[in-house]
Amino acid sequence: MNALSPQRSQHRICVLKFGSSVLRDHHDYARIAHEIYRHVREGEKVVAVVSALDGETDALFGLGEDVGAGAHDALLARLVRCGELKSAALLGLALERTGVACQVFDPHEMGLRAEGAPLDANLAGLDAAKVFAHLDQHDVIVAPGFFGEGDHGPSTLGRGGTDLTAVMFASWLGADRARLIKDVDGVYSDDPAKVANAKRFDQLDYAQAAQVSRGLVQEKAIHAAQSLGVVIEVAALGRAYATRIATVEARPGRVHEAEPLRVAVLGHGSVGQGVCAHLLAHPGRFQLNPVLVRDPGKHIQASPHPELRFTDDPLAALGERPDIVVETIGGTGLARALSQSVLREGAHLVSANKAVIAKDFELLHALASAGGQHLRYSAAVGGGAPVLEAIDRLGPNKDIGAIEGVMNGTCNFIFGQLDDGIALDDAIKEAQAKGFAEADPSTDIDGYDAADKLSILCWHAFGARVDVRDIERDTLRALAPERIAAAREDGLVFKQIGRADIAEDGQIRARVEIRALPQSHPFASLKNEANGFLIRRPRETGWVAGKGAGRWPTAEAVFADIMDIQRAVSGAGLEPSTIPSILAKSEAELMGDASA
Ligand code: NDP
Ligand code: HSE
Repeated sequence: MNALSPQRSQHRICVLKFGSSVLRDHHDYARIAHEIYRHVREGEKVVAVVSALDGETDALFGLGEDVGAGAHDALLARLVRCGELKSAALLGLALERTGVACQVFDPHEMGLRAEGAPLDANLAGLDAAKVFAHLDQHDVIVAPGFFGEGDHGPSTLGRGGTDLTAVMFASWLGADRARLIKDVDGVYSDDPAKVANAKRFDQLDYAQAAQVSRGLVQEKAIHAAQSLGVVIEVAALGRAYATRIATVEARPGRVHEAEPLRVAVLGHGSVGQGVCAHLLAHPGRFQLNPVLVRDPGKHIQASPHPELRFTDDPLAALGERPDIVVETIGGTGLARALSQSVLREGAHLVSANKAVIAKDFELLHALASAGGQHLRYSAAVGGGAPVLEAIDRLGPNKDIGAIEGVMNGTCNFIFGQLDDGIALDDAIKEAQAKGFAEADPSTDIDGYDAADKLSILCWHAFGARVDVRDIERDTLRALAPERIAAAREDGLVFKQIGRADIAEDGQIRARVEIRALPQSHPFASLKNEANGFLIRRPRETGWVAGKGAGRWPTAEAVFADIMDIQRAVSGAGLEPSTIPSILAKSEAELMGDASA
């Protein structure tokens, strides 16, 4: 196999391969998007290699036989690769909905070359520099597996060939592994669906893997990985663990049996409906309590999921001892009280509510920490743009001088509308219809929502409390249409920007401003409901962007929090979150702060 020497990228690259066993129908693309988002949130750039939907390749071979029995293999290869092309496009659509910055490429657009027999070729080269350049712009690249461009047209790589595509990408892009996502959680001594006491391996060497996996991993891919020194991981969707195939001693591992978690969802509006849809798409993993709403009758009538139960009684919603409570009702009344009580009662809390998190940041963390619970609120800042995780990854000595961001999707959307000459009231109505705006849209327009987010960002970036009442705010209402028109003439765009700087003496200045920016500014590229953040440090500035509002990006972040907790409680994940400076205070002191 003619492998090019790997070039290096500045990014941490993860190659994920999704086979037909996890692509049984088109609903599975959303589940795959969760898996990809998880890696993006962990700071990796993802190359996602996909197979065709289950049964599609066989169907295409059959179709080829019917239409032109005995035709040249090159024609069949041209036909059967269409399953992977379609699959890559569908995954691109699913990722677009979640707000992840992604690009789909066909092999010829990446210089992915094949050589050998048209139905049993090998991969011969990739334009890695081109892929790296795209990874500078996007978090995810989606590529169809199973084929490359041969001298005489597309050539396929044999059965299971997408495994080989993933291994070759990992080698050429210098990724530390190719993770093959299957419908089993690793390589077993026997098929675990048929043999009750089949043994799962934590790790295997290449030769043993080729023998034991019996086609679970394509043999050609295993040989290529061995000769190129690529580590293969075989894993299931959503799991932290895998069977590692590398130059290692074989080691059996335990069979993981995760109990389903009971989840109470509070609220079934723009965000809650998306969260429920994701939970229901994983029936073995989650059991749902009745969902808390104000008007159960309305939701029973309108919900496309007859299995969902609704209640207007918080006690019923929180009965049946939920493991995780997901708060998507909003506001600082009932939501605030319930957030505290569920942590006191011993449940983990996932919240999208920045107003509550900003107000009670210390108290909620202290309650979670005291009881060993998880408190997660990724969706509260950035929506689908994982900015809090990016900041946390910088470790204890972050050395952040300033955080700056477009952090309100509604305002960003409205600026675009105003720029198109639409009146403010109509633009607000449109943002509400799209599910971007807060229950009271003044919260967005007058900068309160951005101030809440900025306050949470200050905790994560500087480890310090900035009271939202001390954050100066501009309001979008003060912006006359003539100023927008004049700015447009000058090639400028208006943005609402939250900014917090820390001075040498530790003083933090935070404000929410409306500023006109040149088109060359990174914030100017943010369209519609997008959010973007600059994390300024002495020697580098980090950039995090994604869709900042709306059902699916927000539900994606909430669901990622839920999955993190599931991995953590099943013993393969994160520690409950603690922020040390908070723990210096007693709960009584914190209750005092929270009632202020
Ligand atoms: P919605 O207004 O669309 O939904 C709120 C839901 O909560 C509704 O189902 C409502 O019930 C229910 N609810 C509200 N108050 C009560 C109450 N007192 N008792 C029982 N049920 C109640 O809000 P969103 O989904 O847009 O937002 C939810 C939270 O997520 C907010 O904190 C928001 O800031 C946050 N968020 C929103 C984002 C977005 O893009 N929309 C993005 C990021 C965070 P009913 O339907 O019966 O009225
Ligand atoms: N109303 C908020 C916004 C929702 O528009 O940004 C996301 O936090």
